[in-house]
Amino acid sequence: MLLIQSGTVFIGDKFVKKDILIDNGIIVDIGTNLKGTEKIDASGMLVLPGLIDPHVHLREPGATHKEDFTTGSRAAIAGGFTTVMDMPNNTTPTTTKERLEEKMKLAKQKAVCDVLFHFGGTDDNFDEVKKANPPSLKLYLGETTGMLVLKNQNSLEKHFVNFPAERPIVLHASDHSPDEEINLGKTYATVENAISLANKHKRKIHIAHASTKKEIDLAIRSKNCTVEVAPHYLFLSTNDLERLGPMGKVYPPLRSEQKRIHLWKSLENVDCIATDHAPHTIEDKESGSAGFPGLETSLALMLKGCDLGFIDKLWLIPKMSEQVASIFNIEKKGQIKKGFIGDITIVDPKKVWKVDTSELETKCKWSPFEGIEFKGKVHTVIKSGKIVYREYCFV
Ligand code: NCD
Ligand code: ZN
Repeated sequence: MLLIQSGTVFIGDKFVKKDILIDNGIIVDIGTNLKGTEKIDASGMLVLPGLIDPHVHLREPGATHKEDFTTGSRAAIAGGFTTVMDMPNNTTPTTTKERLEEKMKLAKQKAVCDVLFHFGGTDDNFDEVKKANPPSLKLYLGETTGMLVLKNQNSLEKHFVNFPAERPIVLHASDHSPDEEINLGKTYATVENAISLANKHKRKIHIAHASTKKEIDLAIRSKNCTVEVAPHYLFLSTNDLERLGPMGKVYPPLRSEQKRIHLWKSLENVDCIATDHAPHTIEDKESGSAGFPGLETSLALMLKGCDLGFIDKLWLIPKMSEQVASIFNIEKKGQIKKGFIGDITIVDPKKVWKVDTSELETKCKWSPFEGIEFKGKVHTVIKSGKIVYREYCFV
C-alpha cells in the first residue's frame, strides 16, 4: 500500500491538502491521516494526476536513431506524462492491423509509461481500420514528416462514415507552403470543411497542433470538434528563427509575435495541451527535418505561463490530464479519484532549473528551450501504483 502524504493534491477542480492511498495499482482512498506501508512525503509538493499527452512521435519502428519506445517513454515520465498517444507517421506508417500490433508489442516490451496509438488512415485502408478497430484515427490532410497523406478528396468523408462517431478522428489540417498567407488560408479552409463534414455526420473530430487563434475560433463553433495547442506556439515565434536556424523548423511553422500573443489570449477556449513531441537528431535537423522534442519541457513551459499570469493552474491541469482522457475515451485515468488507476505526477513547484541537453532522456539530445529558466520540476512519478521516478531520477 503506497501512501502519498501531505501533498497539495489536485482533486476535482481544486487543490486540497490530502493523503492518497494506492493499492494494487488503484487509488483506494483519499483523506487525512491515512496509513500505508510505503510512504512518499509530498509536503510542499503539487500532486497531480499522471499527465496524458495526446500527440507524440516515438519513431519506433523505423527511425530508432531519433527515438525509440525506451527513450521516448523515459522522456515522457521525466516530463510528468504517464500516458502518451503515439502518432502513425512512422517510416512504415501504422495503417494496417499487423503494423499496429507490432508497435503495441514493441511498446509493451520497452516503454516505461503507457502508450496508446493513433491509427493512420489512407485512401484505401477502410477495411484495415475496421479490422484494427483503434481508439482513434489520424488523417493527414496536408503533407508532413512521413508519407501519410490523403490524396483523394473523397477519402475524408469516407473515413468519417467508416469510423465510429464517438471515437475522435484527429486531423492534421496544416499546410506548410512557405508563404504564410497561403499556408494559413489552406489550413483554415481544411478545418472549416472538416468541421462541416463532422457536423453533417455528427462525429467527433480533433484538430491537432493549432498554431493560431483562428483555428481555435473555428473549432469552438462546433460541439463535434475539439482542438489542441502545443506549448512551442505559445513560447516561440518567427522572432526566434534567426537564433534557432534549422532547429527552428516545425510543422505548422512558428508564427509571428503578434499571432503568438493572440494564441495566449484564446487559449482559454482550447480543449487540451499536446506536446507534439517530434524528435529528430541534430544531423537530421541540419538537413531539413521539421519538429521539436517537447515531452520534457511542456509542463515546465505551461507552469511558466501560470507564473506569468497568462493562465491559472486550475485551468491548466485538466487540459493536460482529465480533458485528454475525456476526448479520447481513456477510462480511469486523468483524475485523482477513488477507483482510478494510480498514475500520479508530483511536482516541486519551487525547483528552479534549466534544460541541460546532455541530461535529456530523449534520444535527440537537443531542445529549442535550452537556456530558459524554469520554476517547477517533476520530482516523482508513480505509474500504476509503482514509483518509477523519484527525486528527479529513475528508480
Ligand atoms: C512531425 C514529425 O516529425 O513527425 N513534425 C512536426 O514538425 N510536427 C510531424 C507532424 O506532427 O506533423
Ligand atoms: Zn505531430
